[in-house]
Amino acid sequence: MSFLSNAEMVIKALNDYLIESRAGEKPVINQVPLGDLINDLNLSSYVKTGGLSGGQLSDFLRKYLAATTRLHHPSYLAHQVAVPHYTGALGSLIDGFTNNPMAIYEMGPAATCIEYFIINWLLEKIGWSPSPVNLQFENQEKNFGGGVLTHGGSLANLTAMIAARNKIAPETWKKGNPGDLALLSPSGCHYSIERTAGILGIGLESIYYVDVDEKGAIIPDKILRVYKKVKNEGKRAVALIANACSTAVGIYDPLQEIGDFCEAHNVWLHVDGAHGASALLSEKYKHLLRGVEKADSITWDAHKLMRVPTVCAALLFRDHRDIDTAFEQEASYLFHDKEQPGFDFVHRTVECTKAGLGLRFFMVLASLGEKGLAEYVERQFELTIEAYEYIRTLPGFSCAVKPQSNILCFRIDGSDNLQLKIRDKLIAEGSFYISTTSFNGTRYLRLAIMNPETNLETIKSLMQKVREYRQEIDENI
Ligand SMILES: Cc1ncc(COP(=O)(O)O)c(C=O)c1O
Repeated sequence: MSFLSNAEMVIKALNDYLIESRAGEKPVINQVPLGDLINDLNLSSYVKTGGLSGGQLSDFLRKYLAATTRLHHPSYLAHQVAVPHYTGALGSLIDGFTNNPMAIYEMGPAATCIEYFIINWLLEKIGWSPSPVNLQFENQEKNFGGGVLTHGGSLANLTAMIAARNKIAPETWKKGNPGDLALLSPSGCHYSIERTAGILGIGLESIYYVDVDEKGAIIPDKILRVYKKVKNEGKRAVALIANACSTAVGIYDPLQEIGDFCEAHNVWLHVDGAHGASALLSEKYKHLLRGVEKADSITWDAHKLMRVPTVCAALLFRDHRDIDTAFEQEASYLFHDKEQPGFDFVHRTVECTKAGLGLRFFMVLASLGEKGLAEYVERQFELTIEAYEYIRTLPGFSCAVKPQSNILCFRIDGSDNLQLKIRDKLIAEGSFYISTTSFNGTRYLRLAIMNPETNLETIKSLMQKVREYRQEIDENI
């Protein structure tokens, strides 16, 4: 069978999958034990005989799709992973098919130019200057923004800290960690920050946690206390990391005041906006990131609140020179050292072979338009507040914080263990897929309302189930 007939068959199967997922006809989640699944999917037999095409491919795909978690299902409420718009998936297909690793321009001019364009579009949303498209030498030392798309927000955070470290301790490239480096962050930062501290040899003991309020947001007036401690202990602050928004409960740190502090003390400010920077698309919600333009770097995932398939994260810098020199032992402000019509991203990234991540992003953006994406973000944020207003009035229910984004944490009266048991039961039944988090020492059930098909009725049915399950669990004790 030809590529075209196989592809048509695959697309038809995906279309059916989309329709039945949206209609909520199949379980949102279906946890088959790994060993059984390896057998059911006939993996060894295909590997031995080859020929996965036509009827065999169709059979395989049917079984594969049956064992997926259905993100297009309205009851998918668990994680911050985008419910992908199909145009983004087509972008991933085109990128996989053409396979242009575009970190150097000559290996993929179309993919590179899209990444360049997308980075500029994002820079402008932050309020930073875009990079010039005519790459003339005289532009190189000017202060304009720059960035790169990476395979995920965790890698973006790591890359940002490499750049920040390079600024204060460039000798590290040659001599190794000087041993006096520190990071400042709120305790509620994403775990990729702790991993970054480990990977860079800064070490977890050199993360200084700044004071936060009851919602987990940084208290700007108290940063100085911790900063003084860093200094008194003979350390140098590589960066202060702020959340926009936090992973657990979706709360934004006050960037304006934090930015003022960092400016006054010459500390690199990195905003982890992996999830919540997309609020910048909305006139209504961009105030949540007021002051973001004071940051030195920002992580912003498109595969979270921008409906782009995994993975596609943007790492953006107010000054392109901070990233253009990050991977160099000696500072060089040159964009590129060879005559060419385009731009190489390879100097800005840990990766060597890098997928053309911009295409999946561009295709969603060009399909929904920036207005359409803004409306999507607004809809999800508004629904989350409605859900909060509904849940907090239900007898026996409480919420961790008033949501600022599309993340909502709640619990029903009872132990932490009860919350976990309720979640397990929902997953075993396949009716709802939600997550949990520990916040201020208490276990909460957690919703990330990502799906444009989810509505208040979905949330009401979920609460009904939570009540029923609580009753059943109580009766069985
Ligand atoms: C605030 C924050 N930063 C970073 C990450 C990591 O991003 P990724 O999953 O793209 O590596 C997440 C993921 O949930 C996040 O919420």
